[in-house]
Amino acid sequence: MTTILGLSGSLRRGSFNAGLLRAAAELAPSGVTIDIGSIRDVPLYNADEEEAHGIPTAVQALKASLRSADGLLMVTPEYNNGIPGVFKNAIDWMSRPATDIASHFSGKPVAILGASPGGFGTVLSQNDWLPVLRTLGMRHWSAGRMLVARAGSMFDGDGNLTDEATSERLRGFIAGFAEFIGS
Ligand SMILES: Cc1cc2nc3c(=O)[nH]c(=O)nc-3n(C[C@H](O)[C@H](O)[C@H](O)COP(=O)(O)O)c2cc1C
Repeated sequence: MTTILGLSGSLRRGSFNAGLLRAAAELAPSGVTIDIGSIRDVPLYNADEEEAHGIPTAVQALKASLRSADGLLMVTPEYNNGIPGVFKNAIDWMSRPATDIASHFSGKPVAILGASPGGFGTVLSQNDWLPVLRTLGMRHWSAGRMLVARAGSMFDGDGNLTDEATSERLRGFIAGFAEFIGS
């Protein structure tokens, strides 16, 4: 059994990216489970808070899920041609203390995908994640590409993926990532 931690970088009700993650979980091949984690309760990173109170409960839970997972699936929106702050903030917290990076991130397979209403489907924010993943020593799966452009016509009002061709592409993407994890 392969377990993948899935994280969406949007807190929006009806989020395209959260919907893409739900669809990925449903389309995962047999023997592969995508556990959907949430960054909703992660506070803003503050080194003084860390020193005074340690790692927040929500971050500890995400770190435990990441540590036990065989891979990480990051579903990223794009803000101002880059990574949305709330998502980067969550990963930054998860990388604390730095002495835990080796046990949680290093060598862990990771795949990035995303959806946006524009024509480029988060290509710039996906690229923006690459130096972060490299810094954390993760094993990025670069063979697959999943850019969902024109998301307004691909999802319903609740953020559920409705486009069949995109669902099929997503099915192949998740299968490819699962194969990469097993290789
Ligand atoms: C501050 C801000 C900046 C944005 N910048 C971009 C951008 O650079 N490229 C893009 O494709 N969409 C951009 N958008 C639109 C988002 O792609 C859109 O809000 C999308 O629905 C966010 O993902 P979600 O549906 O998962 O919440 C931006 C939205 C916000 C709020």
